[in-house]
Amino acid sequence: MISADKLTLREKAALLSGESVWDSRPLPRLGLRSLVLSDGPHGVRRQLGEGDHLGLNASAKATCFPTSATVANSWDPVLAERIGEALGAEAAALGVDVLLGPGLNIKRSPLGGRNFEYFSEDPLLAGRLAAAYVRGIQSQGTAASPKHFAVNSQETRRMSSDSIVDERTLREMYLAAFETVVREASPRTIMSSYNKVNGEYAHENRHLLVDILRDEWGFDGVVVSDWGGGNDAVAAVKGGGTLEMPSPGLGSALEILAAVEDGRLTEADLDVRVQEMLDLHDWIESREADAVDHDANHALARAAAEQSVVLLRNEGDLLPLAKGTRVAVIGDFADTPRYQGAGSSQVNPTQLTNALEAVPFSGLDMVTYAQGFRRDGVADPALASAAVDAAREADVVLLYLGLDETRESEGKDRDDMTLAANQVDVLTQIAAVNDRVVVVLSAGSAVEMPWLEKVPAVVHAYLGGQAGAGAVLSVITGEVNPSGRLAETYPVSLADTPTASAFPVEEEATVYREGPYVGYRYYTTAGVPVLFPFGYGLSYTTFEYSDLSVTAEGATFTLANTGDRDGAEVAQLYISRTSPGAYRPARELKGFRKIHLAAGESVRVTIPFDERTFRTFDVEADAWTVEAGEYRVLVGASVEDLWLDASHAVEGSAPSTTEVPEVYRTGKVTDATDADVEALIGRSLPTAPAAGARVALGANDPFRAMHHAKSPLGRLVARILRSLIARSEAKGKPDLNLYFLYNMPFRALAKMTNGAVSMGMVDSIVILANGHFFKGLGGVIAGFFRQAGASRRLKNELAAEATESVSI
Ligand code: BGC
Repeated sequence: MISADKLTLREKAALLSGESVWDSRPLPRLGLRSLVLSDGPHGVRRQLGEGDHLGLNASAKATCFPTSATVANSWDPVLAERIGEALGAEAAALGVDVLLGPGLNIKRSPLGGRNFEYFSEDPLLAGRLAAAYVRGIQSQGTAASPKHFAVNSQETRRMSSDSIVDERTLREMYLAAFETVVREASPRTIMSSYNKVNGEYAHENRHLLVDILRDEWGFDGVVVSDWGGGNDAVAAVKGGGTLEMPSPGLGSALEILAAVEDGRLTEADLDVRVQEMLDLHDWIESREADAVDHDANHALARAAAEQSVVLLRNEGDLLPLAKGTRVAVIGDFADTPRYQGAGSSQVNPTQLTNALEAVPFSGLDMVTYAQGFRRDGVADPALASAAVDAAREADVVLLYLGLDETRESEGKDRDDMTLAANQVDVLTQIAAVNDRVVVVLSAGSAVEMPWLEKVPAVVHAYLGGQAGAGAVLSVITGEVNPSGRLAETYPVSLADTPTASAFPVEEEATVYREGPYVGYRYYTTAGVPVLFPFGYGLSYTTFEYSDLSVTAEGATFTLANTGDRDGAEVAQLYISRTSPGAYRPARELKGFRKIHLAAGESVRVTIPFDERTFRTFDVEADAWTVEAGEYRVLVGASVEDLWLDASHAVEGSAPSTTEVPEVYRTGKVTDATDADVEALIGRSLPTAPAAGARVALGANDPFRAMHHAKSPLGRLVARILRSLIARSEAKGKPDLNLYFLYNMPFRALAKMTNGAVSMGMVDSIVILANGHFFKGLGGVIAGFFRQAGASRRLKNELAAEATESVSI
């Protein structure tokens, strides 16, 4: 183990930022090689050629597992851990030291562009599954990097938005899953998010990274910035951020050195961060990579998808279909599957099966295939009418619908929750000629289904990874009894969501007006009806719950499979406080068990309580507390199908008497006034610039803010970017580079150009965008030479130190 005092000051400063897109800086003098960091959450994206953080350039083949949103439906930490093991082993075989995942941000709105990469709207479920991934990954000697810490809920302005959230909601909703991961799985690294949290960038937010993550939860690893998420390198060292990625060249090292020199930063503070890097090297050194069995991992990817398919509707028990059933397969998604999402998580699969290839192995008799609709949403009556003809011919129609690549992607939030109108049109026409239609849906997040009543069956495949197509057919034929349960609520419509009028936000400040009323916590408290509740999913068998007994240790009940097929149930435990005290949602998930039962079998099941079951965060005391009082303990099959109910008294501290605005008790948070929100967050709401106002831009404003720039050139650049984005979307292919640029702050020019641009030059570019063309340009040119000279000098000094016999 190397200790920080063996490094020279320059080496220390240089170690805290990356050398290239995926590599940390080596230190050969001390035997330290570069560490390789690579995405990602559901498969390894190891780029051996040109690297990028948007999934644009080629990467080596790796197993593409179902995305986290999909695996979350399995509610199965054992499965998640096996996936983690496979990911960790594939990473090791590809020379990846730190795997950038899993992603576990809370799904605040169904419009979140990266919801497909995240687990749930509930922190307990997200935390337990993510912890299982981390345990699995790290069991192979690969460090995991759970991300994005924290409160990273929207893609709009993703690198320069400020998530303003009250402390209690922060702790109970947005940090709780990370807390579980840190306490239960000890990740060696964690990735800080792009956004600010309550005014400070996550990578330099001392409250988050030191007070909570390190001091309270005991995290002792490396905090790595999201790619380009570094802001002020010196503030990061002080605030708990360890490694800035990708490479800002030697720019950040120069800033750190200057700060030590003029006393703004102590070397002791620097040593703390340096030691975190050295410890990570030490942890990784002991690893040995084994050969990977890609066939076995493909089989695991299929098993994972099978456990995660959610049967949403099955009128008249249309499913499962008997072998030999004559099916028409309709829909572009049967031919070109959507099995993962676009962006940094995109994997180059080892193999890929589509539904057309999988049907012949399912025992079903495919009489015909019709494309049905254009994927890009453009109406095509000829395709629709061929599909209707195909539907007439068959006993059953398997209709493959979904969200296409432009409707769900990293870098952009969704515009709405609908399926493309041309798909719904085809569905309507087909349903008119065949009443045995099974919709197979591919989407990484919730969609509205005003068409639901028109079809008897809906199988939700989510994004099932490279083996997803076969998995769906196993469910359709009954080879697999569906046991997936929704890890997020399906609201009736977008207008019903708690953030309907507040998501995404285009200005810097994103105020979490709804407090803890996210997902089912909102719907169950405010009494808003939903399409499919959290935890919901059908099976081909039936389960009965009985005999609940509750003790201080937990809840025990009997679960019976009362049908004639073997199957698995996800038993869920919620609590609901009935005595006065701190405001709380009507239901909070506090435990779950996935249980396989043979037909006719029954079992006693215990779901234990732990120190977190009844706790709330007491903001005044700045501590967790358990309030004394009465609770209902509810057990059942979804947040709305709670078959067992017992009251339970808990001992604890005196209940809170703190006043809160009424909306935070009733949960009717869409009625919250600005004054209510100010009372919740404890400060005044920020004001946004008036529409059309010309504003002075700063280094942390994104390019999209140039719509309001003082300089006509700036406004022109913003307009050009917007029209290029519109053009790429019209072509049906999202351009992630453009999304990134549009939302990228000026500062990122320094953070992502390998040192070519300094932070000083960024300030000059901002001056230019603010309408002072010549002054700005002069600054850019002078800054360029200054930066190049200083970087060259530091590089030479580092090289000299590396060869001199510096005593170690
Ligand atoms: C994403 C991260 C990812 C990183 C590296 C960023 O843009 O937000 O999730 O790990 O790029 O690809």
